[in-house]
Amino acid sequence: GGTAIRRDRFSGGPARGFMSSLAADERIFAADLQVDRAHTVMLAEQDIVDDDDAAAILGALDDVAAAGHGELPGAEDVHEAIETAVIQRVGPEGGRMHTARSRNDEVATCIRYRLRADLFEALETVVGAREQLLDAAEAHTETVMPGFTHLQYAQPVTVAHWVLSYEGPLARDTERLLSAFDTTNQSPLGAAAFAGTPFDVDRERTAELLGFDGTVANSMDATSSRDFLVETTSALTTLATTLSGMAEDLVVYSGRDYIEISDDYASTSSIMPQKKNPDTLEIVRATAGEAQGALQRLLTTLKGLPRSYNIDLQEATPPAWTAVDSVPPALEVVTGALTTAEWHEDVLAAEAAAGFSTATGVADRLAMAGVPFRTAHEVVATVAEDLDPGQDAPAIDDLEAAAEEILGEPLTAYVDRETLEATLDPVESVAMRDSAGGPAPTAVAAQIDDARERLAVD
Ligand code: ARG
Repeated sequence: GGTAIRRDRFSGGPARGFMSSLAADERIFAADLQVDRAHTVMLAEQDIVDDDDAAAILGALDDVAAAGHGELPGAEDVHEAIETAVIQRVGPEGGRMHTARSRNDEVATCIRYRLRADLFEALETVVGAREQLLDAAEAHTETVMPGFTHLQYAQPVTVAHWVLSYEGPLARDTERLLSAFDTTNQSPLGAAAFAGTPFDVDRERTAELLGFDGTVANSMDATSSRDFLVETTSALTTLATTLSGMAEDLVVYSGRDYIEISDDYASTSSIMPQKKNPDTLEIVRATAGEAQGALQRLLTTLKGLPRSYNIDLQEATPPAWTAVDSVPPALEVVTGALTTAEWHEDVLAAEAAAGFSTATGVADRLAMAGVPFRTAHEVVATVAEDLDPGQDAPAIDDLEAAAEEILGEPLTAYVDRETLEATLDPVESVAMRDSAGGPAPTAVAAQIDDARERLAVD
């Protein structure tokens, strides 16, 4: 019939469902209507379509919008379905809507339009999380805890210092997402299939109507490039990878009784009555796999695609939605679990001294008194090797004996007993490491100030 797009030859075969993106396109239904409106307005302004036809098309688009995606006629994709629905309402003149464009520039514009909103929300989530982390850090600048390397007790730090170690990457994630936003915020519309159009289109005008910063100039680039999807998905995957480590830390901490996860973020066992499991954090840990899988799918789909448009590109879009849908909620969950957890300061303080974690501080003291650091390291290592399993710190006598033997002078020639005892105390150990970016409360306060300034700019 004359009311639908003439694709009789291409309808109803067994591969139609396989080909169709109509269900997945629900995500860009509202975007497509906006793109249709902007294009129609521009066509009228350029006298490519007369005002009456444009008005009828715009009216039909409102009607289609009100009916919703679920009421669209069957079609290969949302663009074809909306056009068919417009023609059903307006008659053949409705077909003027597709003058001087193709689904290729149309879909690229729709994806960018929708992704922009998703990126904006993701950015809001990241900025909100950073604020919460900074508040948590501020509350814990004096809460000493063990710091690990290789999951072994290494040196005491504070909860604030640990928290800030995650706020930093999130600040950089903000920059990456902003950059992805800028890349995305350019309009492909008016590129047509890939080779431009003989009509006098005003690409700047449709870009402006749709709120884009500008246009993707080259029409082949505009329709064929999906690097904006790669940039977005990769920024989100980078974030998800950071979150997985943060979640893992909290899983470890809850297993060691450093924290108690709030009930809202925990689960229990169906058989073991005593269990309180950090399940939400384990899902966050797994989200990195989901995001990385999405990025891999996207890159593999794009790899080796020739210019210009190929419908493989249709399959490149869903992985970006996967990342956009899974990563920000994971950030909210891990931030929520962290900020509502109860920190067991007594357990943390006891553990902060475990495994002779103040050993580096003792070596530092000797080096400050003039002993070459490597020699100081050897003195302390000699004592550390002889510790019993589970013994937190050596006896001062043992340190003295080692110093006497290796340095040929009594330990007190380098560091008095009071200072030495203080050095073996994790609180003092933290306080002495006040270099820029270090764990000492003064150094951490400066980091929080800097982070707050950065956040205010973002
Ligand atoms: N639905 C398609 C996409 O998402 C756009 C259709 C273009 N089809 C084509 N054969 N040129 O990319």
